Amino acid sequence: MKIIGSVKELRQAIKAEKLQAKSVGFVPTMGFLHEGHLSLVRAAKENNDIVVVSIFVNPTQFGENEDLDAYPRDLEGDQAKLVGEGVDILFYPTVEEMYPQGYSTYVDVEGDMTGVLCGSSRPGHFRGVATVVTKLFNMVAPDRAYFGQKDAQQVSVIERMVKDLNMDLEIVPCPIHREADGLAMSSRNTYLSEKERKDALVLSASLFEAKDKILAGETSAEKIISGIVDKISTVDYAIIDYVEIVDALSLERIDTLKGTILIALAVKVGKPRLIDNLRLEV
Ligand code: PAF
Repeated sequence: MKIIGSVKELRQAIKAEKLQAKSVGFVPTMGFLHEGHLSLVRAAKENNDIVVVSIFVNPTQFGENEDLDAYPRDLEGDQAKLVGEGVDILFYPTVEEMYPQGYSTYVDVEGDMTGVLCGSSRPGHFRGVATVVTKLFNMVAPDRAYFGQKDAQQVSVIERMVKDLNMDLEIVPCPIHREADGLAMSSRNTYLSEKERKDALVLSASLFEAKDKILAGETSAEKIISGIVDKISTVDYAIIDYVEIVDALSLERIDTLKGTILIALAVKVGKPRLIDNLRLEV
């Protein structure tokens, strides 16, 4: 696996592959890789000649009081995992390489899509995501890019951006990866104490319970949401940021459950703010 830190070198390496008509699959990450990330790498390997993974903890998508400095990092462990998966190129740039002095250009996906769910509690987050992802797409020039559905809103925002800006690549959303007991995999799970790790199961459990109710015929978003809120509130120190039900494509809030819906939640369990969601055909 080549480890590359400069944009110039990355471009040269990818150009050489493209000259041989090789297709490029790309998995952008912020590192501290878990099985969820590796499932994206495996999907990319299956459908592309070469796979590029980036590890970059992007400062522009973190708010002032968020965990940028504390964000978990393990470059050595990540490298070993990526070598094990047969990744061809790891792009590992510095902040200065990505945002050199004088940097002034940002990508904003405007409207409802970035104003709901995580967009309303993390102002500027999706601007940072859209900007860095655009930059990475310009550097890697992938044929396909792979994103996890755990960040369902991120997937929708990126799909919108790719469509709006006529970017020439396919976005491939991949299913949420869960621990055996249901907890959605996340690099931030590492912040959880043993007790919090157990209590955090209430998030996935509340979503699974909601799914059962909907499959049994419940169509009121309000009732489903209040069932989820009640269940999460059994953990007395959990702080709910949001529990919402939206149309999975437009991300518009819905009252009556029909079509493809997304039940999404964000909850602080101790230190970390965890997100989870469930996509369902009603
Ligand atoms: O999902 C993530 O890890 C990040 O938001 C991404 C897509 C790598 C952009 O920094």
